[in-house]
Amino acid sequence: MNLSQTIHGVTFENPTVLASGILGITASSWMRVAAEGGAGAITTKSIWLHEHKGHRNPTVISTDVWTLNAVGVPDAGPEKAKEEIGAYNKKKPVPLIVNIIAESAANYGKTAEAVLPLKPDFLEVNISCPNVEDEFGKPFACSAPDAAAVTKAVKKAAGKVPVFIKLSPQALSIAEIARACADAGADGFTAINTVGPGMAIDLRSRRPILSNRVGGMSGPAIKPIAVRCIADIYAATGGKLPIIGTGGVQSGEDAIELMLAGASLIGIGTAVWKRGIDVFSKVCDEIKEFCAKEGISDVAELVGGMHKTIQRT
Ligand SMILES: Cc1cc2nc3c(=O)[nH]c(=O)nc-3n(C[C@H](O)[C@H](O)[C@H](O)COP(=O)(O)O)c2cc1C
Repeated sequence: MNLSQTIHGVTFENPTVLASGILGITASSWMRVAAEGGAGAITTKSIWLHEHKGHRNPTVISTDVWTLNAVGVPDAGPEKAKEEIGAYNKKKPVPLIVNIIAESAANYGKTAEAVLPLKPDFLEVNISCPNVEDEFGKPFACSAPDAAAVTKAVKKAAGKVPVFIKLSPQALSIAEIARACADAGADGFTAINTVGPGMAIDLRSRRPILSNRVGGMSGPAIKPIAVRCIADIYAATGGKLPIIGTGGVQSGEDAIELMLAGASLIGIGTAVWKRGIDVFSKVCDEIKEFCAKEGISDVAELVGGMHKTIQRT
């Protein structure tokens, strides 16, 4: 059973990817996720152009089916990232996807320039933060012209490094945003970021549990939204651009569902906390088990499988 795929010239030994923001930004934790956990690739947390403070604790609350987080995208900036990514690159057991974020299109371009010497295999562009130049501070991911402007700025800075735009399920039409990014030169997509925001209230104190009051939702409850978003992006771009499907994946069967919707690679976030650091190997074993029973010899056969089936019927 072949789990490996080559995407934009980068070989991934298996389709699982550590999702952004889950295990901080230290070379030692990425090495563990690759060596002990079996991940096919690593994504860094979002890197800003300058140091960025996050929210006060508590920032995360979790149940079996959902997690709310309002960490507030804290980051020490590109200098700290250079140390950690530099240390990771000395061994680099699996490909590295560097995730960037900014508050204006121009700063997305500058952040891409700042991280480029770190030789990322792909750049992942988190466009879920609000555009400070927009009158209403609307997230870039919710406006086709803003998402396209960010894509153009990053593409200009990125040279030959493939640029993946990380889309939000909050967009009214994720298909429209994906098309705008594709027209602006995007090389692929990651979908989805967290859903919401949601709120949880402590019954006795009668206060929101998170210090930020609201937080983005992840975990198994968001998987159907991720599947729909991936299917929309795949259809909107004619299946021509690779998608890192992310959202609610816990098991091999979840991963296969996202692949049938159109994902080539599978981001795993919240499930690292639920199933442990070796969730990546477990998901790969479960994919192999399913494929063996179904007579599937290559994982690439699954990508976009739903679209091919419904076209025929
Ligand atoms: C605590 C936490 C921090 C996150 N930080 C980032 C981040 O820095 N950048 C980003 O693009 N996504 C971030 N995400 C979103 C995840 O990468 C992922 O898109 C989302 O959690 C859905 O996947 P999951 O259900 O497998 O967790 C974060 C998620 C969590 C739970």
